[in-house]
Amino acid sequence: MTVLAAGALEPRGPVAETIADLWWFMFALGLAVFVVFAALLGASLIRRRHEEDPSTGERAPDAPSRWLIWGGVVLPLVVVTAVFGATVVAMRDTPTTAPSEALVVEVVGHQWWWEVRYPEEGVTTANVVHVPVGRPVAFRLSSADVIHSFWVPSLGGKMDALPDGTNTLVLQADEAGEHRGACAEFCGLQHARMDLLVVAEPAEGFAAWVAGQRELAAEATGALAERGRELFGDARCASCHVIRGLTEVGVEGPDLTHLASRPTIGAGAAGNTAMELAEWIADPHTVKEGVKMPATDLDEEDRAALLAYLEGLE
Ligand code: CUA
Repeated sequence: MTVLAAGALEPRGPVAETIADLWWFMFALGLAVFVVFAALLGASLIRRRHEEDPSTGERAPDAPSRWLIWGGVVLPLVVVTAVFGATVVAMRDTPTTAPSEALVVEVVGHQWWWEVRYPEEGVTTANVVHVPVGRPVAFRLSSADVIHSFWVPSLGGKMDALPDGTNTLVLQADEAGEHRGACAEFCGLQHARMDLLVVAEPAEGFAAWVAGQRELAAEATGALAERGRELFGDARCASCHVIRGLTEVGVEGPDLTHLASRPTIGAGAAGNTAMELAEWIADPHTVKEGVKMPATDLDEEDRAALLAYLEGLE
């Protein structure tokens, strides 16, 4: 059922389709120009050989003005006008303001992860965006530090996330499936590992997801998880990460209320398995060099307890 669409030429929504159509039009035009000129070049080479004076090896030059006018003025004018026209049509078909029925999703770029907030639904998550199928989504983009660029190629064009303003990008998914996204503006050492996953699902599935995300963190059960819960609150974790129902102080790092429901950690730097999570907590810099999260030195017992708690945050 899940389609993982990643490329701009695998459009899964109206905006992406407009952009893909424009791309194919420009590609076809470029190909036609290339074929015509390759044929002309070939023809002129053959002709030159035939017209050479056998005694001197030279040939009389012919008047170049006809070629200059057609190949150098008329053709570029026609091609550039056609591309300009197609671009204007594509721009007209790309929404620039959010329709009233749009779902609002605030996306804040951080070095190097995405904070994702649903202000009307009261949901905050990270690096995974759930959207309903067939409904426009107004992404309100901003940044907590440097300039990032939000890009989900199979849903539409990219747009900058700026530290001093908000840009709005309106996209829509036409079918259920997953879409890979990325940061498209160099933003430092781990720019390449600032992944984003967009999950498009039918309205009921989306509503169920929202309801689940609004819940507080799952209650830890068992002595080990209880100990992990205490550790999270006491240790430095809580000064950067929110786990609703436990601690709401930290704002620097991703909200971890439903950490276990995410497919990756570190914005795609590692899978969300117990082993990778343990490595990440012990020394995130070996997994993702330059990341702002400090290493956490825990003995084996405490590490197991913290993992038991975090792994339970469905
Ligand atoms: Cu954020 Cu590149």
